[in-house]
Amino acid sequence: MWLSKRVTDIKPSGVRKIFDLARTVKNPIDLSLGEPDFDIPDAIKEEGIAWIRKGFNKYTPSGGIPELREKLLHYLREKGIICEDVILTPGVTGGLLLALLVTMNPGDEIVIPDPYFVLYEYQVLLLGGKPVFFDTYPDFTLKEEALRGSITERTRVILINSPNNPTGNVYSGQELEMVARVAREKHLLVFSDDIYHAFNYEEEEYRRYFGQLYEGCLTLGGFSKDWAMTGWRLGYVAGPKEIIDSMVTMQQYVFSSVNSVAQKAALFALDYKTDTLIDAYRKRRDLIYEGLKDKYNVVKPKGAYYIFPEVPGGDGDAFAEEALKRNLFIIPGSVFSSRKSHVRISFAAGESAITKGMEILRSMA
Ligand SMILES: Cc1ncc(COP(=O)(O)O)c(C=O)c1O
Repeated sequence: MWLSKRVTDIKPSGVRKIFDLARTVKNPIDLSLGEPDFDIPDAIKEEGIAWIRKGFNKYTPSGGIPELREKLLHYLREKGIICEDVILTPGVTGGLLLALLVTMNPGDEIVIPDPYFVLYEYQVLLLGGKPVFFDTYPDFTLKEEALRGSITERTRVILINSPNNPTGNVYSGQELEMVARVAREKHLLVFSDDIYHAFNYEEEEYRRYFGQLYEGCLTLGGFSKDWAMTGWRLGYVAGPKEIIDSMVTMQQYVFSSVNSVAQKAALFALDYKTDTLIDAYRKRRDLIYEGLKDKYNVVKPKGAYYIFPEVPGGDGDAFAEEALKRNLFIIPGSVFSSRKSHVRISFAAGESAITKGMEILRSMA
């Protein structure tokens, strides 16, 4: 009786059930993780610590500290991303919430490729919008017909995520151009969640940013993945000035400002390369893909640190429960999709865990 309708109307995320079950298993092999398994590089930690000691511990301006906003704008424009301004946010999570708050009216539709990152559905619903999903199975590429078929008079935004959680797929330049063409024709905004952009194992054709193509784009990115700063809660959104200005105003009322020290550390992190860490992830991608491909119907991930195979029998919920009984923790695909035929396996884990997990998976096929 104490809860708002906003909360009670929303079905609980499927992820809770599997996490509750996982708690009953002692030390499972954990291939469920959504964050890098390396720690923040020492030099970045030291930078943060130094700024704490110097007393940089107060509120900062709502849009973020000017020197970081400036550096980020330069960093993004160097990559060819079209953006007039940028705001620092509490992760992409906070950035997406602010972006939706200032662009989406209740009842508006947000078009999202399925499978998708769970947060998108819930944030849209919480704010009174309607998530509309379009299918990308079986290869997880974006098909023009499916995209066009999901657009109505009420559509406001197309929300894409590449490299993708949960599939590990990366959209090609052609797919991105197709989205830009459709968005331009229909006068839609595009939100591009690029948080895994550094985790890319492919050639040029798959290394483009959507933000290079369309001025009506908000590029969302952050410090959680490339520099493993997940707990420091820092992300950004770049795009048209009118939208960023409104997000800065909105941030005053929603989050006030973002973590002071993380912003100083981020200034330093932008010049800190994590390429060798990414190389290690490519090796893990190869290891798990080679181990699964003869037993499962599986698309080779081009980025991020997830692989999304179809399970025999087509019931990913039952499969994930069975895997837990065999001491392996993975996430059912139904958490990320209207289908339940797949499971998400994370390779943000050590080689030994991946190898052991793979043996269990091979024995289940
Ligand atoms: C696709 C995607 N977007 C956003 C986030 C959240 O990022 P942040 O830590 O910046 O809020 C995640 C985290 O797993 C993610 O997978």
